[in-house]
Amino acid sequence: MEKILVLDFGGQYNQLIARRVREQKIYAEIRAWNRISLEEIQEAKYIGIIFTGGPNSVYEEGAPAFDPEILNLGVPILGICYGDQLLSHLAGGLVSSAGDAGEYGSTALYTSDHPLFANVPEQSVCFMSHRDQVARIPEGFQVIAHTDHCKTAAIADDRRWLYGLQFHPEVSHTEYGRQMLKNFLYGICGAAGDWQPENYVQEMIEQYRKELAGKKVLLALSGGVDSSVAALLLHQAIGENLVAVFVDHGLLRKGEADLVERTFRDSFGLNLIRVNAAPRFHSRLAGIVDPEKKRKIIGEVFIRVFEEEARKLGKIDYLAQGTIYPDIIESGRGDSAVIKSHHNVGGLPERMAFSGIVEPLRDLFKDEVRKVGEILGLPKALVYRQPFPGPGLGVRIIGKITGNKVRILQEADAIFREEIDKAQLPENPNQYFAVLTNTKAVGVKGDARSYGYTVALRAVSTDDFMTAEWTRLPYELLARASSRITNEIPEIARVVYDISSKPPATVEFE
Ligand code: XMP
Repeated sequence: MEKILVLDFGGQYNQLIARRVREQKIYAEIRAWNRISLEEIQEAKYIGIIFTGGPNSVYEEGAPAFDPEILNLGVPILGICYGDQLLSHLAGGLVSSAGDAGEYGSTALYTSDHPLFANVPEQSVCFMSHRDQVARIPEGFQVIAHTDHCKTAAIADDRRWLYGLQFHPEVSHTEYGRQMLKNFLYGICGAAGDWQPENYVQEMIEQYRKELAGKKVLLALSGGVDSSVAALLLHQAIGENLVAVFVDHGLLRKGEADLVERTFRDSFGLNLIRVNAAPRFHSRLAGIVDPEKKRKIIGEVFIRVFEEEARKLGKIDYLAQGTIYPDIIESGRGDSAVIKSHHNVGGLPERMAFSGIVEPLRDLFKDEVRKVGEILGLPKALVYRQPFPGPGLGVRIIGKITGNKVRILQEADAIFREEIDKAQLPENPNQYFAVLTNTKAVGVKGDARSYGYTVALRAVSTDDFMTAEWTRLPYELLARASSRITNEIPEIARVVYDISSKPPATVEFE
């Protein structure tokens, strides 16, 4: 399989670069600059290398760099932003601060006739974000694009297949960025475009069928996209030998636990064990107010219940997890490897005896996982399920949790989600839900004074959940949701809409 190396120098768009490459049907892998050697790069036979952006200056002490021999491998290289400056620096050019002429944001770009700019007009818009720039291009290079403030917006050494872009082709603000990446990948690296999640699915199924023959594999199914897709994939490979344990902690959304059971046991015929552990979770959570304590308890009880089920099953060979690629990418920012384990099963492998862990989705980005889910026939409601926190409604009930409060919140949340779905918005919020606040308020229902809970509705639009805007939902939609919630749920007297963005607020209330 042809592969592109995305050599990570710590920039913020590195995952986006890899996703853009994969969109072009070429497999891309991200490696941190300080965790891969020249020899490994040579052995891996990449068809092209992309140097990413990064926050440093090439002359700073300890700034990310690489063995200059990488330029002589005969593998095409595209440097982006810091990657462009580093490429120039390694090739003997001069990088300097652009001073006040640093550029941030959309800028007019003037390109010349060059294969990197095939099907790109002479003038277009690019996205710049830099302080430094290439002041003197290295020998053998030529300038192939400029902006009003940057004379060296794109440079090329066609003889050695080295290219540098000061701007960011991977972000959507660069009008023809996709085309430029395509030109690099197909026109310059000579890619054939053989990467498709469809092929991956078949390959993985075949591989696991052989590797896991006769082995018993246990998977914690949460109903989330990742564990669901991992479950279906493994089920196709090893059938009955995959045992999926679904712990219903009684903090899921309305109807969700039944949907999971129906989908996986009835439609797909999975060997599924549903554990109705709601009473156990609720009793452990009784009286607890502190959100971090709630999270801790939910995590602990989850592990306990899961372990007990596993023990009943006898010998299990492997534990399967829905880890995806962004969970395992090592950052090029110089920090130690950041490896997240699946939230819900964190801590399990150490406590239980398995011969190993199976992670069928570890090479895939979220959008690819969804595609695989569709290929495997997972219902759309699960494929496009919005993110839902492991501790579930436990962190959306402010204050003490009771079974009654869970039911009230489930109803309100279901109405809000239903109204959003019915509204068929041009674009749905990325996450939307109801929260049961701890505030009671006076209202009037019929002729009588009522006293009931205040429910908060929350909807956010975001790319990565690190920052988020509150979604400007149409007033009519909010009005319908509010009126239905107060009419249909007697315990609720008041509905408010949360208009805080992140930061300073977070997505969840707790
Ligand atoms: P915050 O509230 O931190 O949420 O802005 C960002 C995203 O993370 C989800 N979230 C969690 N997911 N366990 C999870 O699995 C948790 O404890 C948790 N807390 C927040 C939240 O739903 C949002 O998508």
